[in-house]
Amino acid sequence: MLKRTHHCGELRLTDVGKQVVVAGWVRSYRDHGNLVFIDLRDREGITQIVFDPQTQKEVHRISRELRCEWVLAASGMVRPRGEGLENPKLATGQIEVVIDRLEILNRSKTPVFDPEEADKVNEELRLTHRYLDLRRPSMQQRLRVRHRTAKVVRDFYDEHGFWEIETPMLGKSTPEGARDYLVPSRLYKGAFYALPQSPQLFKQILMVSGTDKYFQIVRCFRDEDPRADRQAEFTQIDVEMSFVDADDVMRINEQMIARVFREVVGVEVTLPIRRMSYAQAVDEYGIDRPDLRFDMRLRDITDLAQACQFKVFNSTVASGGIVKGLCAPGGGRYSRSEIEKGLTEFVGGYGARGLAWMKVETDDGGGPVLRSSIVKFFSPEQQAELIQRFTASPGDLLLFVADEPAAVNKALAPLRVRLGHELGLIEAGRYEFVWIVDFPLFEWNAEQRRYDSLHHPFTAPVPEDVPKLDSEPAAIRSQAYDLVLNGAEIGGGSIRIHDPCLQARVFALLNITAEQAEERFGFFLKALEYGAPPHGGIAFGLDRLVMLLTGTDNIRDVIAFPKTQRGQCLLTDAPGPVDQAQLDELNLRVQKHSHAPETAG
Ligand code: AMO
Ligand code: AMP
Repeated sequence: MLKRTHHCGELRLTDVGKQVVVAGWVRSYRDHGNLVFIDLRDREGITQIVFDPQTQKEVHRISRELRCEWVLAASGMVRPRGEGLENPKLATGQIEVVIDRLEILNRSKTPVFDPEEADKVNEELRLTHRYLDLRRPSMQQRLRVRHRTAKVVRDFYDEHGFWEIETPMLGKSTPEGARDYLVPSRLYKGAFYALPQSPQLFKQILMVSGTDKYFQIVRCFRDEDPRADRQAEFTQIDVEMSFVDADDVMRINEQMIARVFREVVGVEVTLPIRRMSYAQAVDEYGIDRPDLRFDMRLRDITDLAQACQFKVFNSTVASGGIVKGLCAPGGGRYSRSEIEKGLTEFVGGYGARGLAWMKVETDDGGGPVLRSSIVKFFSPEQQAELIQRFTASPGDLLLFVADEPAAVNKALAPLRVRLGHELGLIEAGRYEFVWIVDFPLFEWNAEQRRYDSLHHPFTAPVPEDVPKLDSEPAAIRSQAYDLVLNGAEIGGGSIRIHDPCLQARVFALLNITAEQAEERFGFFLKALEYGAPPHGGIAFGLDRLVMLLTGTDNIRDVIAFPKTQRGQCLLTDAPGPVDQAQLDELNLRVQKHSHAPETAG
């Protein structure tokens, strides 16, 4: 076999005159009768190879039989491309290789789709023939970025004294709030392992064990419906540290993030990353993961709404609701029907009962004036106050939602992001990080009439709020922090409870009885009783981080072999049935065979 000397992305004008061997896949084929041109592709790029009957008659003859995606090794001389035939889009675009020897290493069936055109074919086909899809330069690039990221992460933590320690995949249910994947035990009939939703309890036990600084790049499993930014099987960069406070954890880990951005995509992250309280984020952006690449903050106008004559507003306020709005700069270009159909239906999808609007136009004197069918319900003073509160200028569009506070935020937060994109307020290549801090420890679950943990039940309260455990649980802040980038949560963690008594009180508040706690986390509570140091940590979503680094909004693009939205691996056709013998061995009986998921994803 011809021995490769260069990758397909490597050769330059400085290599002219060299005898080289390149190997790869036939990407495209142009037969000009007397010359045959082939773009040969490998992981590193594309090289144009040329077959010239003047150079080698027999090789030229064979070259006419080559087809797309065949695998070749070819040897020849590097020469400059002819005048005007250079391709400035290719790194190797100045040169070509005139081939004198050719080996066909393998043939390919006619590909079911052209890898280069894969963006245009449906994703199911791409996932079924993932090996073709992954040949695309953009996919190779994402795999490369993922590899680089993991490598920089490992180097960073190693240099800072962290040990990478593996924790079990076959374990007991962990409490991250999703459904578990269960694995039946053969030896203990009727008993099951659970795949980890995260290594949370093991990493805390490692701190009790004196490991001091731990990290792991680790697979986690959560049996929930996958989404554009969520997979049932995903990877965390998981971290835990002893004898630290929240500030220590945030500072060291933001350095890791800055290092990744610098080394992987050449972007400088300004440290320290700014911090924002949960309350401020929800107030101004309607969400705890604000996209700070553009301003357009939400403003509360409940006071004006209460005093105005617009019934939708004042009746909402009278029944305890609020009214908030935003000012979309340049939003005046939306037509009435775009607002009343498009935007109103959009917020309707998030549960809003309507969307009130006012356009900001120019009055006779050139100043801003409000126009819409509801403006008449506001006095001139109230109108002036609205313009002032939103610092609205002619050409802008004011949009309002009236409802319960949570419902208002739920509708306005995605509306703000949509408008930010549509109105071109987001600069390409901009990264805006923010730590969200001072989360409430608990969240009231109105449906089940009980408190839930906002993070997980091992998160420590702010020490001065502990006395409120019995009196005012909803007012307790936690020592938790989330790292948000461009509106996506890329990581989250907390200082943990290391006092078994406090842990027991938190369980009680969460309606987890002592027996339940013992049954589910007994091993962990016991460990806390044997000298647990103060500790805390964080976990980042590696897939999400790589999505942001590569600029894709589809998590499947950064995972070599992902599952579909319906949880299937189309390449291997998992999940699938198993043999009766295997079931018998596990003492399992399947009641109903169904290869279709029960709920549509
Ligand atoms: P959490 O549940 O917030 O915390 O997860 C940490 C980070 O993991 C990513 N992530 C996901 N990525 C893809 N698909 C999913 N289904 C998915 N779920 C989570 C997110 C998220 O920020 N044990 C705690 C961490 C800690 O307290 O140290 C935990 O798992 O980017
Ligand atoms: P209606 O009186 O229902 O015809 O609504 C008049 C205007 O108010 C329409 O533009 C509605 O979209 C809007 N609207 C209705 N309910 C709400 C609400 N809860 N919040 C904001 N605007 C609303």
